[in-house]
Amino acid sequence: MDREKSTGDCGPEAGPDKLPLIRMENISKSFTTNGTTVSVLDSLWVDIHEGETIAIVGESGIGKTTFLHVLGTLERPDKGRVSLAGADVTAMKNAELASFRNHFLGFVFQFHYLLPEFSTLENVMMPGLIAGMKRVEIKDAAESILMRMGLKERLANRVVDLSGGEQQRVALARAIVMRPKILLADEPTGNLDQKNSSQVHEFLAELNREFDMTMVVVTHNPRLADYMERKMTIENKRLVEVG
Ligand SMILES: Nc1ncnc2c1ncn2[C@@H]1O[C@H](COP(=O)(O)OP(=O)(O)OP(=O)(O)O)[C@@H](O)[C@H]1O
Ligand SMILES: [Mg+2]
Repeated sequence: MDREKSTGDCGPEAGPDKLPLIRMENISKSFTTNGTTVSVLDSLWVDIHEGETIAIVGESGIGKTTFLHVLGTLERPDKGRVSLAGADVTAMKNAELASFRNHFLGFVFQFHYLLPEFSTLENVMMPGLIAGMKRVEIKDAAESILMRMGLKERLANRVVDLSGGEQQRVALARAIVMRPKILLADEPTGNLDQKNSSQVHEFLAELNREFDMTMVVVTHNPRLADYMERKMTIENKRLVEVG
């Protein structure tokens, strides 16, 4: 993506030129299972500006998914503050958060969580139906995205009958159907062959260009990581720039 590289401000003392779209301040997150506590993120800071594209890379278990979930308001941090478009989402109640998420954030999960008994089209229409949009409007939007993703012939199929790669594309379509300002994706090309991965890369680049969509993408795929402007990893439970 051809936008000028950001200066990579990533710390409490960074002086942003304009308020960042995403600001995470002093985030810590741990999990306690059977009396044992694992600290995953600790004193993590990051600023991400509108329109930036970021790849999060690194080995299994370093906290990439946890980071994405805290950023995307799916997990609450133990400490610290997450601000999205100036709104302190850590202070929001669950009901308010759910609505905020539905309009503002698109997710592609590591395990895609499609609704197996529903059709491809219904799965992609779901966020709009939940938001109370008119059925015909959301149907048009869902169809046009699915056609762009090469799934025109699969609209009426139940998603359980689709291949793994097709399901992954449906999950991406569902994530962007509401035109979120921020797309968070966890291994969006994990099950795809090279041809289909390239198609997803192109599509993400187009979304960034057309809608200035900000993207944070966890990936083990070096080609996809190269499509993103900034590359980051988690070291000592904090987010750091790579390279
Ligand atoms: N809900 C949870 N309960 C307990 N431990 C958890 C939970 N979620 C994550 N962890 C632990 O936190 C650590 C980081 O997990 P995370 O899923 O964020 O890693 P990751 O970098 O996404 O790994 P991968 O590349 O394998 O997906 C791991 O040790 C994991 O076991
Ligand atoms: Mg993960």
